[in-house]
Amino acid sequence: MAVIQAFPTQASATGATASPAAAHPHRGRPMGAHVAVKALSHAYRRHDGLVLENMDFEIAPGEIVALLGRSGCGKSTLLHMLAGLSHPSAGEVVINGNTVREPSPKWVMMFQAPSLFPWLTVAQNAALGLKFTRRPKEIATRIPEILDLVDLGAFADRNAQELSGGQQQRVALARSLAPRPEMLLLDEPFSALDAFTRRALQKDVRAIARDLGLTLVLVTHDVPEAVRMADRVLVLKANPGRVAEDIRIELSEDDRAGASDAFQRELDRLMAAYGAAAETPDT
Ligand SMILES: Nc1ncnc2c1ncn2[C@@H]1O[C@H](COP(=O)(O)OP(=O)(O)OP(=O)(O)O)[C@@H](O)[C@H]1O
Ligand SMILES: [Mg+2]
Repeated sequence: MAVIQAFPTQASATGATASPAAAHPHRGRPMGAHVAVKALSHAYRRHDGLVLENMDFEIAPGEIVALLGRSGCGKSTLLHMLAGLSHPSAGEVVINGNTVREPSPKWVMMFQAPSLFPWLTVAQNAALGLKFTRRPKEIATRIPEILDLVDLGAFADRNAQELSGGQQQRVALARSLAPRPEMLLLDEPFSALDAFTRRALQKDVRAIARDLGLTLVLVTHDVPEAVRMADRVLVLKANPGRVAEDIRIELSEDDRAGASDAFQRELDRLMAAYGAAAETPDT
């Protein structure tokens, strides 16, 4: 992994000289977003049943939270609401004290498919977020450092279509991170990758989020992925979607690699909670 300490502060993004704080990964940089989901319920159509019911939880700045639940329980629906891509029928999402009403470059979403332009280079694809947020002046300095961060520095001038699936997902990650978001929202972004590549990305994305102080919300139905990546797991029940359990994962970074007894204990605990939530009869 690249040396994350080289990541610049907001000052260098605006053209000012980087302060000494730039040498430290946590100083001089905006904190991750604080999220509050308040009495949130949702039905896609007025006469349909609720997809999400009365959700209430908070996410601390810099926290890594997994939303774990079986297919159809409303994980993507909830994530879209955190991103401001859709609106709840009742209740609200509040980020840093403001009700979310629309998408923002401060909270970016990454999907299962990297959705790159195959005829553009890696660097050009990674720069798209900055172009759309009308910050083209930052591209020359920001893109090389962000490609280093995701371990693609040597691939900057390659065409995106020449990359493997895992590398393409890293380009999508670079594109998401380039505008310095406060929160990253991931909707099963590794599920199309082989086990080895997937593990490398799980580890690296967690390390990057922690080093940048980003809030990270990850949707998954893969229990080991939740244990490897999350500080906290919200286990969701279906029909309607709601929080069944709120579980803290207490593991050292080494233990998250998966070979330890401690990892196995956390995995068993979460598997039991997931199984119980999935078996709950529909209401
Ligand atoms: N745009 C939509 N219009 C109507 N119903 C929808 C829409 N999107 C999702 N739904 C319904 O809402 C429910 C929750 O869907 P959602 O996609 O949020 O689940 P999920 O937990 O992300 O599932 P998966 O793990 O399969 O991705 C499902 O019953 C789905 O059919
Ligand atoms: Mg989904």
